[in-house]
Amino acid sequence: MAMDLIVRGANLPDGRVGVDIGVQDGRIVAVEPALKAEAGQEIDATDRLVSPPFIDAHFHMDATLARALTDALPRPDQAGLLFEGIYLWDELKKQLTPEAVAERAMTYCDMAIAQGIQAIRSHVDVCDERLTGVEALLEVKRRVAPYIDLQLIAFPQMGYYRYPGAQDHLRRALDMGVEVVGGIPHFERSMAEGTESVTELMEIAAERGLLVDMHCDETDDPMSRHIETLARETHRLGLQGRVTASHLASMHVMDNYYVSKLIPLIAESEIGVTPNPLTNIAAWGHNNGSYPKWRGMTRVPELREAGITLAFGQDCVMDPWYVYGCADMLEVAHMGSHVAAMFGADEVRACFDAITVNPARMMQLEGYGLAPGCHADMVVLQAADPLEAIRLRATRLAVIRRGEVVARTPATVTELLVPGRPNSVALTYKPTD
Ligand code: FE2
Repeated sequence: MAMDLIVRGANLPDGRVGVDIGVQDGRIVAVEPALKAEAGQEIDATDRLVSPPFIDAHFHMDATLARALTDALPRPDQAGLLFEGIYLWDELKKQLTPEAVAERAMTYCDMAIAQGIQAIRSHVDVCDERLTGVEALLEVKRRVAPYIDLQLIAFPQMGYYRYPGAQDHLRRALDMGVEVVGGIPHFERSMAEGTESVTELMEIAAERGLLVDMHCDETDDPMSRHIETLARETHRLGLQGRVTASHLASMHVMDNYYVSKLIPLIAESEIGVTPNPLTNIAAWGHNNGSYPKWRGMTRVPELREAGITLAFGQDCVMDPWYVYGCADMLEVAHMGSHVAAMFGADEVRACFDAITVNPARMMQLEGYGLAPGCHADMVVLQAADPLEAIRLRATRLAVIRRGEVVARTPATVTELLVPGRPNSVALTYKPTD
């Protein structure tokens, strides 16, 4: 039997080793040891982890790289403060053109595919009567479709009620083709308006048959409890399995008894949760300038124990909120593992799942995975297993999309100039070497 491509000798994230992956017409057709077939192209992945592509379930593509352009930010800032970032973005937004937004987004997508990301769920700010970001990112979605699945969320950054016209702009964005409903209840003027916004936005999603992904309780205020309303509305409207709560930072400092009641409600409603380890640890947990400092991330191990689908998102790359980032989901998982203190074998694997299979489920991606019948989308890593991949933020040796290699990076090996030692060193290490 002749195939288009065979990836030989791969280690898979589930622990199988030395497996061959056969590809035909853009789909995986065989996953087995010593596959007896020939192919137009073969890739030797012996001792390498081959993973399904990385997925970023929480990103802001309309703002990305704004900090990378020296003239893009309207004024100097302290960087890393959420509310300062929101106001800075609001100033910047007035100067944007669809062309400039699309150019930054396309540059970011090039970085993303090089790093093995093949699906991104991005918020797009609809608090703008021109809907500049919506226009730009719908065009980008079309242009990157051959190599990235871009799912867009209509996000009222300045408040669904608080920003004049946002209710109308959000509906217009959905009419234009944005496919997920967003919200920001903790940024409305009052707790009551936050609650009302969740109800109204969930009803829009139910009426239109859309998914929901809300920024929820992204604050250090332990009384910010909009997740409770989100769970109730999910249950009331029958949207189980279609709703994501992003951030949930306030849960870190909530009353423990209340959380013991809340987590089962989230599980019952089948709400997925997306913490964003890099930006959460940067923006939250400062304890109002006092000590000891909290961690600014939600209660990941406890949510996981309750069987809740967890994805780690990147949130920001060089934008008004965050100065770092490089489209590296392994860096995101590395930080997530640290902030959640998840270092056991199962827990590290869960961190890897949080940047691969879990966000795929959340985004309802078709044909994701490494089983026969799935799209032939995968990443060959310079690492033997998920732990080593996260530890090294491993080099993406080959990124494959629909059976075609779309990015290659040479293996990282350092020339060692220490007398009496070998002349090169790789950071991969196996005791048997
Ligand atoms: Fe966000």
